[in-house]
Amino acid sequence: MKKKTVSIIGTGSYLPERVLTNQELEKMVDTSDEWILTRTGIRERRIAREDQATSDLGAEAARRALADAGLKAEDVDVIICATITPDMGFPNTGCFIQNQIGASNAFCFDVEAACSGFLYALEVGRSLVETGAVKTALVVAAEKISAILDWQDRNTCVLFGDAAGAAVLQARDVEHGIMASTMGSDGSLAELLMLPGGGSRYPASEQTVKDRLHYMKMAGREVFKHAVNNMVQASKDALAKSGLTIDDIRWIIPHQANLRIINAIGERLGAGADKLVVNLDKYGNTSAATIIVALDEIARDGRLKKHDKVLLVAFGGGFTWGAVVVEWDK
Ligand code: ACO
Repeated sequence: MKKKTVSIIGTGSYLPERVLTNQELEKMVDTSDEWILTRTGIRERRIAREDQATSDLGAEAARRALADAGLKAEDVDVIICATITPDMGFPNTGCFIQNQIGASNAFCFDVEAACSGFLYALEVGRSLVETGAVKTALVVAAEKISAILDWQDRNTCVLFGDAAGAAVLQARDVEHGIMASTMGSDGSLAELLMLPGGGSRYPASEQTVKDRLHYMKMAGREVFKHAVNNMVQASKDALAKSGLTIDDIRWIIPHQANLRIINAIGERLGAGADKLVVNLDKYGNTSAATIIVALDEIARDGRLKKHDKVLLVAFGGGFTWGAVVVEWDK
């Protein structure tokens, strides 16, 4: 009998309509299109409307993923939402998404692993499906990062954008599906990338607002070094676990933070540029959403073919990182 493996049976994404260009940012902070483009590769990003919260973006991506999988919202047993921009402190954003799409049979929770969030949530969803605890998992990564950016801080505000993506997981009688995964964290480096205010360490107060603690803080140069090293190592570990080499991989979808990071990963893995999926020129860094948005994009535009092997690799605040090898079987 063939072994059952967990597969991604549907994907969807949602990008807010409003485009914010580098030229517009030139008028907001002391920056230039030339600096942003050469240092990061970003040309423009999407910004959600004021009346849209993270769950609104996530719900739209979830509807599209369910339609792609040919399932109804009632078929979903669990919703796992990866986000660092939840609608509220609680309830969890997964519950808000559940209510919007009508997934009345699901239990719902959030996973917070910053830019690694989608891969962490995918790992949790895979485990729940693989053990038989649930039949259908809906993994959503949704971020309204514009809500936590300091629009006076040129070190961060030019880098990010809003987006959501979703994947539907079920077990199938196929050879592969999700083939291997590896995850890691290093909490000793937490202070290099954080949003300090509004939690139990620095509860919201007049002073925390005055000190701008409710915005993201990042030590970019340090994060850069760790991002490259950890994503290369995680990729090697996941490949070793899958029994594949980089030559077997058709597509590498790295977290979309910086084109220089993506190119460095490609070089150090010995992968040609033709394997690297890049869309950060259009969307910037959308935190947990980058990988699933890019996966959905190549699935829909025909680049991704049945039996292609795909390496997904992420790095984010925490620090957190992860890599997953998938054989596409749609
Ligand atoms: N426009 C113009 N100049 C700028 C800007 C800007 N928007 N931002 C910074 N600068 C200046 C700095 O002030 C600095 O000036 P100085 O030399 O006079 O001090 C100069 O540009 C160079 O700054 P660096 O920080 O050294 O620039 P670097 O080449 O490292 O690029 C960047 C910065 C883009 C942030 C890069 O370090 C990076 O991509 N880091 C990793 C980001 C990442 O991977 N994040 C992880 C995921 S995010 C998450 O988990 C939520």
